[in-house]
Amino acid sequence: MMRIAVVGSGYVGLVAGACFADFGHQVILVDNDQQKLAALQNGQVPIHEKFLPELLDRHRGHRLTFSGDLHAAVAASDAIFIAVGTPPTEEGHADLSYVESVARSIPSALDRYKVVVEKSTVPVYTSEWIRKIILRNAAAPDSFDVASNPEFLREGTAVTDFLYPDRIVVGADSERCAEVLRNIYAPLTDGSYYQRPDAIPGPDRAQIPPPLIVTSTKSAELIKHASNAFLAMKISFINAVASVCESVGANVQQVCRGIGTDSRIGPRFLNPGIGYGGSCFPKDLKAFRAVARECGYEFRLLDEVMLINEEQRHRFLRKIRSALWTLRGKRLAVLGLAFKGGTDDIRESPALLLTQTLLAEGCRICAYDPAAKARAQEVLHSQIEFADNPYDAARHADALLILTEWEEFAALDWNRLRDQLNDPIVIDGRNLYDPEAMAALGFTYYSVGRPAVSPEIPPLSTSAPRKLKNA
Ligand code: UDX
Ligand code: UDX
Repeated sequence: MMRIAVVGSGYVGLVAGACFADFGHQVILVDNDQQKLAALQNGQVPIHEKFLPELLDRHRGHRLTFSGDLHAAVAASDAIFIAVGTPPTEEGHADLSYVESVARSIPSALDRYKVVVEKSTVPVYTSEWIRKIILRNAAAPDSFDVASNPEFLREGTAVTDFLYPDRIVVGADSERCAEVLRNIYAPLTDGSYYQRPDAIPGPDRAQIPPPLIVTSTKSAELIKHASNAFLAMKISFINAVASVCESVGANVQQVCRGIGTDSRIGPRFLNPGIGYGGSCFPKDLKAFRAVARECGYEFRLLDEVMLINEEQRHRFLRKIRSALWTLRGKRLAVLGLAFKGGTDDIRESPALLLTQTLLAEGCRICAYDPAAKARAQEVLHSQIEFADNPYDAARHADALLILTEWEEFAALDWNRLRDQLNDPIVIDGRNLYDPEAMAALGFTYYSVGRPAVSPEIPPLSTSAPRKLKNA
């Protein structure tokens, strides 16, 4: 059992803290937002994340406590994970002021050897800065180490991503420090967690036990930025291929199958759509670009990845225009406002950005999102209507837009939807449905990188796979 403080109880900190408690460690989750702390202490779960409520219920008040007292939490812990936000600055750098303020408060509580761990995504060299700040504040050099332990958590599946990781990366510059991190993750790496009857169930393709990779701290910092940049590049690549498919009348889904089955490429993160969003990819690409420039390398490839991503939304808007001719006064049903399915997070959501553009173009919008309504309402206020289900959203709409790949959108009652719509037009930004099936149901159906179909014009490619949802 280790004593751990996790500073920052947001999407990352909350999941990490709850999972560490489930390993059997004693965890203090720290936050400077008193309202959030009170809510957590009262049993509320501030974010929509599968299995998180179960884990918090399991450990709240026993192995998992919540506190606003950073000094006391650091003093009581062997390892301090920093999971505060690192938002982008105007110039695209990561704003590390929250990380710095946490680092400043650590020295006064260093009564014995402790490891300070970067969990937030930070640029290379941040660990050196944290070390300098702690030393400047009169800490003895051998009383602490700084490690980097990047997270690879996707919102919506963050708990299972944490418990069933492809790999655990530990950046540590001393064996003593690496050993602390090895001990923390031992329940996963020795496989004992997975033997427990109450273990949270994992995905089919989980690698058990996961490998733990020890690197230098700088390498670990780079692994995080490079991983996210690579995944974003994969998405922009397939979005660019989808645009070529549209020009020549090919089907990107078939192309994806053809290239994704090459084991060197792999099928995941090859789903074209309306571009990537969220709290990580957009900001991490900018930050990686900025830090590379500072280090003397012009990473222009990343500029292109970001440009394609931006363009993808404009292309989708053009698609809506070509389906509806004029936009002013049109009534649209929007399904999905979060940055992807399975989450209530609307940060950098392409669905939300598109909705705002459509409003600016004079459209009237009624939206449905299974989880993001409250957060979207904070931004959109009364500019749009919110429905409690897809069918109410579709009532009297001139077209239905699919902007987020929620699981429940794969099983819609299309006959019922068609009856609600003014015109049977579906514009799908996530390629959730089979064009042939949609045409057979009487819809004019537009998607990304696949030929548009309508009941009068059957699809060109009769051999398209009969699938309702992307792999
Ligand atoms: C995290 C990482 O910090 C970010 O680098 C990564 O790329 C994405 O995930 P996230 O957990 O999504 O960010 O951030 P957020 O939900 O904003 O949570 C940060 C928490 O830290 C908030 O609860 C905030 O109140 C808290 N905080 C912030 C502190 O406790 N102290 C501070 O000084 C600043
Ligand atoms: C991401 C990384 O996956 C995770 O490892 C990291 O630590 C945090 O950032 P997250 O932002 O939660 O996780 O979501 P992710 O599932 O990666 O999706 C990011 C965006 O890319 C979403 O907008 C999603 O819709 C989009 N996406 C993803 C695609 O457009 N196509 C794909 O094939 C996959």
